[in-house]
Amino acid sequence: VEAALAGGPLAGRRVLVTSGPTHEPIDPVRYIANRSSGAQGTAIAAALRDLGAEVVFVTGPASVPPPPGVTVQRVETAREMRDAALAALPVAAAIFAAAVADWRVTSASDSKMKKTKTGLPQLEFAENPDILAEVSALREGRPGLVVGFAAETDDVIANATAKRARKGCDWIVANDVSHATGIMGGSENAVTLIHAEGSEDWPRMGKAQVAARLAERIAEAIGADKT
Ligand code: CTP
Ligand code: CA
Repeated sequence: VEAALAGGPLAGRRVLVTSGPTHEPIDPVRYIANRSSGAQGTAIAAALRDLGAEVVFVTGPASVPPPPGVTVQRVETAREMRDAALAALPVAAAIFAAAVADWRVTSASDSKMKKTKTGLPQLEFAENPDILAEVSALREGRPGLVVGFAAETDDVIANATAKRARKGCDWIVANDVSHATGIMGGSENAVTLIHAEGSEDWPRMGKAQVAARLAERIAEAIGADKT
């Protein structure tokens, strides 16, 4: 196995994968989160590892365990994820599969909020740093390939194409997470890969197969440059 890994197309290449949800505390016992199991990010990290890459896996509190054979950095909040992602650079490719909470609670309390004392809570929010946009915009140390995800419920291709331009990343892996598809929390995914040349619909397949196909594409794309 070691010999096979050493000979993989990504041997000696370092890659970053973010995965899982983030949790944004409201008080010591409550948080705001996203509906993400971490399954797709975990499968991508494993697929990149299988091609020989050295994988830094920055994960929020996911419901599936991280894959063996990768360097795991556990984080809770979006800001911790940002710091861990920046600390992982330089990398040849960065894949942002995490479902990052868009907002954090600025009125978070150090002690448990009590129904009787506070009545209905009035939460105040601030926008979290956009890790994908920040890494895409780096002038020095930008990964050779930056891949984002776009989970959409409406106008999937149009929204994801606009998102690719707004974030400044190279590829967007778009998926339709409307309830009817059963994708969120399921074992399958139906994605569209969006790049500078247009978009490609991939057939519906298991998350492991999506990951393997994406990892192969990544290996082709970064195969030539040296990071
Ligand atoms: N992302 C990130 N940091 C954030 C928010 C999102 O790195 N603070 C990344 C995600 O990991 C994903 C991509 O950006 O790869 C798109 O996330 P998404 O939530 O679809 O995009 P947003 O810009 O937050 O737009 P929306 O209003 O649709 O949530
Ligand atoms: Ca978002």
